[in-house]
Amino acid sequence: MNYKKLKSFPKDFLWGASTSAYQVEGAWDEDGKGLSVQDVSKHPEGTSDFKVTSDFYHHYKEDVKLFAEMGFKAFRFSIAWTRILPNGTGEVNPKGIEFYNNLIDELLSYNIEPIVTMYHFDLPYALEKKGGWSNRATIDAFENYSKVLFENFGDKVKYWLTINEQNMMILFGAVLGTVGEDGENPAKKLYQQNHHMLLAQAKAMKLCHAMCPKAKIGPAPNISSVYPATSKPEDVLAASNFSSIRNWLYLDAAVLGRYNSVAWSYMERKDCAPVIEGGDMDILKGANPDFIAFNYYSTMTVADNDEYASHDKSKADQQRAFAEAGVFKGAQNNNLEKTEFGWEIDPVGFRNTLREINERYNLPLIVTENGLGAYDKLEEGDVINDDYRIDFLRKHIEQAKLAITDGVKLFGYCPWSAIDLVSTHEGCRKRYGFVYVNRDEFDLKDLRRIKKKSFYWYKDVISSNGEKLK
Ligand code: BG6
Repeated sequence: MNYKKLKSFPKDFLWGASTSAYQVEGAWDEDGKGLSVQDVSKHPEGTSDFKVTSDFYHHYKEDVKLFAEMGFKAFRFSIAWTRILPNGTGEVNPKGIEFYNNLIDELLSYNIEPIVTMYHFDLPYALEKKGGWSNRATIDAFENYSKVLFENFGDKVKYWLTINEQNMMILFGAVLGTVGEDGENPAKKLYQQNHHMLLAQAKAMKLCHAMCPKAKIGPAPNISSVYPATSKPEDVLAASNFSSIRNWLYLDAAVLGRYNSVAWSYMERKDCAPVIEGGDMDILKGANPDFIAFNYYSTMTVADNDEYASHDKSKADQQRAFAEAGVFKGAQNNNLEKTEFGWEIDPVGFRNTLREINERYNLPLIVTENGLGAYDKLEEGDVINDDYRIDFLRKHIEQAKLAITDGVKLFGYCPWSAIDLVSTHEGCRKRYGFVYVNRDEFDLKDLRRIKKKSFYWYKDVISSNGEKLK
């Protein structure tokens, strides 16, 4: 739909950007922090570990100052569970509380709204050793952790996100260093873990409403429209299959408190439907999130797959589909260009995704990740000409404005990432930030912060409330 005049971004729109604790903080074993599954995960050859990353833990004041200079209205970051509770449960680490209190206060001193993700891929290793999300005790551990967060930060944090990209942890956990695919029927284990995470999330949302009546809380999956490769009805059905398995399974449970029926049939067919105990569905139903946060990088395109095709996940990741015999198979979308790292670029798909979520759930939406990973080049005189990133973000913001005109209740946009950090599985050479961090994969250099061209561009975007995009 075209319009003669577009609606403006709301006056109090939350322009900002995002990071996650294990990808940006470093200080992996400092001040009483416990080990997380990321600290012990295997790194693909040639990529950095997560020990130092961008060393935000020691540079946060300098970094927040840069965010303020860009004019951020919000900063979306995650709290490392293991800084707060080194063993996942038990003793609270005062130094961890102190760090996040300092960070939150620093943000608030510049009127930057903290948007806090409670858990971003970094489950405490102590819990993992006891079975991780396969163990129902982890549900209680997460509820207890959320209680500690609400007690300590609930008076200052208005926006909470529960679990980052739970859907990607289940679908691509091996790549993200989260949940593996071992055992006889790995899918059975994974979907049981998924059920436990859904319960943990629902309990945390309920607790948030009880303990922090002024705060708002929502889920934070990675959602993208799924296209059929052709107009062949079987391809359309395959797209609907994949969308249920990838997107709606997670949001239907979080928002509507029920399992998506196609996703449930898929799990039954694979003999991996979770065991649901008495009372579980009531817990899911009582959660009532206030908004939906979601991450968007690209759309997915799939085709019918009625022949036998193996479950090839070797090349798949968050944005690259795989195949499931009799359900769908990933297809290339020839209408779209790709990033240097092979992810399709689809700004119009962003508008479509916003509309789909809006129509399905009718809740306010915030985008908590969107961005372009690229090999940035540091040129002479500390210059980074990342015009490709500006182009990517501009096109997505244009589509966000169209979606707002379509009626989507979008209240914030926090692209990935505020500052360079270490990618989930492709090292620090895959850069996303508005601020360059001077380090290589294994040479930490001086970790100097350098403003990229996109830094200045985004500053203008924010100060014009999304009107000045060129
Ligand atoms: C999302 C994650 O999947 O995508 C982030 O929430 C991640 O943690 C981002 O960094 C980009 O993915 P990648 O694999 O390029 O780091």
